[in-house]
Amino acid sequence: MTNFSTIYKLSLVAVIYLVQACSCSCPVVECWFVQEKVGRGGLTAATSQEKTLLYISTDEHRHTAESQRAPSDDRVYFFSDPAGTLCLPSPPKGLIKKPQCEINPFLPQPSDLRWVAPLTESTLSPIYLQADWFTTSHQDFKQEQTISSITRAPTASKEHNVILSVTSKTLSVKSRLGEPVLLDCGFWVDPSSPLSGSGFAVEWRYQFRGDGRLVLAYDGKTDRLADTQEEGATLDFEGVHEKGNASLILQEAKVRHSGMYICTVFLPYLMAQVTVELEIVEPPSLSIYPSPLPLIVPGHTLVVQCEASGFAPLSLELSWEFKGADGKSRSLGSGSITGHRQAWDGTFGQSTRLELDTAKQDLGRGGEVTCVAVHLGGTRRASATLNVIGFSAPSIEDSMAMVGVALVLYGLIKFVSWTFISSGSDGGDKQDKKDK
Ligand SMILES: *[C@@H]1O[C@H](CO)[C@@H](O)[C@H](O)[C@H]1NC(C)=O
Repeated sequence: MTNFSTIYKLSLVAVIYLVQACSCSCPVVECWFVQEKVGRGGLTAATSQEKTLLYISTDEHRHTAESQRAPSDDRVYFFSDPAGTLCLPSPPKGLIKKPQCEINPFLPQPSDLRWVAPLTESTLSPIYLQADWFTTSHQDFKQEQTISSITRAPTASKEHNVILSVTSKTLSVKSRLGEPVLLDCGFWVDPSSPLSGSGFAVEWRYQFRGDGRLVLAYDGKTDRLADTQEEGATLDFEGVHEKGNASLILQEAKVRHSGMYICTVFLPYLMAQVTVELEIVEPPSLSIYPSPLPLIVPGHTLVVQCEASGFAPLSLELSWEFKGADGKSRSLGSGSITGHRQAWDGTFGQSTRLELDTAKQDLGRGGEVTCVAVHLGGTRRASATLNVIGFSAPSIEDSMAMVGVALVLYGLIKFVSWTFISSGSDGGDKQDKKDK
């Protein structure tokens, strides 16, 4: 009996423990703690990198228990994140790919940017800033979502509070030309922080191969949009204030919009940013020249040209196929491909020339000539009908048949002319008699 009650108690404890463990829905995140090491004399700044574990919980009080349980030899941080914004889905069991994560020390400071400066101009830097601050950035295992956050811990403590988080659910966006584009960016501010309620600013910046430009900058404190050059780029201003929805809306996708976009959210003294990639993908339109294809005579060649236009990005594979009377398709190679051209709208054009030669390519009586373009936006095809006139060189059987036909014809002609001549001379005799 005593044995039974012990087992019963133990299992009850186990169940309670399991339930507790499950309430922590957020998987532990493996992270790199990266900081700059100042070398001797302060001249060389190298970085050091240490493995760190992040325990993220939406419940503030759970950490006290966890921090006592956690192994002491690892670097460990406990994040309390009441809104649950840092929680990314864990990979399915067996998948080794871990979320990419980096944590760095962060130094709160006012910003000089015109659209951010109003946030700090009236207040002295508060005592609240005197703590340990970190910036953390991590991505889910599918590389779809990204989160960047600013956390604060009382000096030398391992228990952090998330003060600001910026997230994007669209790490990489593809769009067709001319379509509206939405680049997702959202933020959350700890409402219990003294920095909340003193305004925010949102900035979208574009970056492509070293070329950068400001797309949009919004000062949420004074509700002012900075002058920018980018046409057709906007925010949902109501959504920014009410839901922290800082998503960028591009009304019409253009080729020059391809690149990296950085969404930065500023609070007084703090900032966090996420990067989103946009790629404009437009498949080519194809046309074959000359159209229609002229008849081709055996022994002659015909040059056909296929023009691909209006595509982006640049990479394109052009080739030719031929389908004869037997219905089977075969490759005619890629032809001679020209260099690419760029149109006014940034899209690309390229063409290929193919020499059709009845002697070399076994084109029979003709068939269908197809130009194939393989592109990131999809494969496109264009076809034209090819007609070969006349027949091919006669075979031996054909020659013998022709000789036979010729003989028969000869005989026939002989016979007809003989009957004609004989009947003609008969008629002539009668005519002669009448005349007489
Ligand atoms: C943010 O705003 C855009 C534009 O109004 C909307 O399409 C999008 O669904 C919003 N995102 C969220 C998470 O509410």
